[in-house]
Amino acid sequence: MQIGLIGCGNMARALARGWRRPVVCSDPVAGRARALAAEVGGEELASNAEVARRSDLVILCHKPAQLREVASEVAPHVRAVASILAMTPLSALRDAYPGKPAYRFMPSLPVEVRGGALVQAVDGADARDGAPAGGGDAGRELDEAVHQLFAELGTLVLLDESLVDVAMGLMSCGPAYVALVAEAQVDAGVRRGIPAAQGAQLVVQTLAGTAELIRRREHDMIAVRREVTSPGGVTARGLAALEHAGLRSAFSDALDAVLSDAAR
Ligand SMILES: NC(=O)c1ccc[n+]([C@@H]2O[C@H](COP(=O)([O-])OP(=O)(O)OC[C@H]3O[C@@H](n4cnc5c(N)ncnc54)[C@H](OP(=O)(O)O)[C@@H]3O)[C@@H](O)[C@H]2O)c1
Repeated sequence: MQIGLIGCGNMARALARGWRRPVVCSDPVAGRARALAAEVGGEELASNAEVARRSDLVILCHKPAQLREVASEVAPHVRAVASILAMTPLSALRDAYPGKPAYRFMPSLPVEVRGGALVQAVDGADARDGAPAGGGDAGRELDEAVHQLFAELGTLVLLDESLVDVAMGLMSCGPAYVALVAEAQVDAGVRRGIPAAQGAQLVVQTLAGTAELIRRREHDMIAVRREVTSPGGVTARGLAALEHAGLRSAFSDALDAVLSDAAR
């Protein structure tokens, strides 16, 4: 399947690196498209329309506000379209690309290392046997191929369309949150004398190892926390300090902030 990327910014780059296959691509900044094609293989093309003509599946990697503008160039030529645009429901995609197979995904930056969390929107009206369908009656094969393409990049979760923006607040924003938490921990160590480089090694491995452990405990986070937390012990004191500082409500507020911005 020939992939075409419209827009060659951060997420297009992460997807292309994850797929490890040649792409055709375009971007208003020609150097960006050229650099991406040079890195992963493929070709930078002069226009979005040319990308559509040369692709089996176009991935929309521009900003949400550019949906209409890009569709006016791309829709007449495109065979099938997959969107990663935040806050852009399938209905808006179908309006912009009438009659074309249309899919909605929400990726996260670790797709670059095939360790991303991804969501595929399932639209109740269009679900086929509980699976998302974008390709119409003739499109079962295309539905499966598109699903598999994104599944290569990590853990792909099917979610009702109405929850995709909420999920985005967890997993698309998540890498920034996790990086901030790691940075804060390293800084705390620096204050007590651990050099930043060694602190980063310790903190990052703790994140990676704990993620694996939680997975092996079938996502039972409380079980992992209990195994580290002796009654009256040092971890219990640390956890209490984090709760007192409002860690839990801070994450809840962050999600509210993401979604309130969506409404504007
Ligand atoms: N970054 C994430 O973690 C993440 C996660 C999930 C979903 N997304 C979604 O992914 C999309 C891209 O995000 P991003 O972070 O990669 O943004 P980005 O780095 O700004 O990339 C967007 C690219 O699209 C280009 N572009 C603008 N107008 C265009 C046009 N008419 N035709 C073709 N390309 C055009 C931009 O060029 P200019 O800079 O010149 O405008 C830029 O190179 C967004 O819709 C976002 O909602 C992002």
